[in-house]
Amino acid sequence: MNAIKVHDKYFVPYLSEDEIQAKVQQLASRLNHDYNGTRPLFIAVLNGSFMFASDLFKYLTIDAEISFIKLASYKGTKSTGHILTTIGLDIDITGRNIVITEDIIDTGKTITEFLPQIINQQPATLKIAVLLHKPEATIYPVKIDYCCFSIPNKFVVGYGLDYDGLGRNYRAIYQLK
Ligand code: IMP
Ligand code: MG
Repeated sequence: MNAIKVHDKYFVPYLSEDEIQAKVQQLASRLNHDYNGTRPLFIAVLNGSFMFASDLFKYLTIDAEISFIKLASYKGTKSTGHILTTIGLDIDITGRNIVITEDIIDTGKTITEFLPQIINQQPATLKIAVLLHKPEATIYPVKIDYCCFSIPNKFVVGYGLDYDGLGRNYRAIYQLK
């Protein structure tokens, strides 16, 4: 695999398509086991987790539902410092078994600010499944129930993750050179 250029920066191959698919498939097997007969509702956090959520969902063999929310910490060009829900949930989650899928836990701020919105609606159970976790960058402690890869504190793109809007379309994950 070759390096890629996204905007002005170069990124080098880090996790191959095969490695990612193998981990996502393993995670789906665990979920097939853990959620058998409970009809979980997956909540995919947009934009970053769209590919991960899609692949994970395709490997499930149990009855499961999926819905989407869109979060952003920016309004216009300025960070508000707070997480805004720009597309909310359109489904009643009270009493449901919820699995949130996120692309990456970096500082942990996004998920920490968003979780109360879910907890307030009293789901029966709530678990977090992430593709990537940067333990060295995490400031807000997050209980991650399912994680595909723990990675060093370096910026990555691909497989749904972007650098300023670009780079989401790659099947592999690339690390800043
Ligand atoms: P957190 O709130 O700091 O945990 O991270 C929130 C969001 O920042 C993630 O959902 C990603 O959209 C973005 N992010 C964090 N690290 C990276 C990265 O290495 N590449 C691309 N996006 C990232
Ligand atoms: Mg992003």
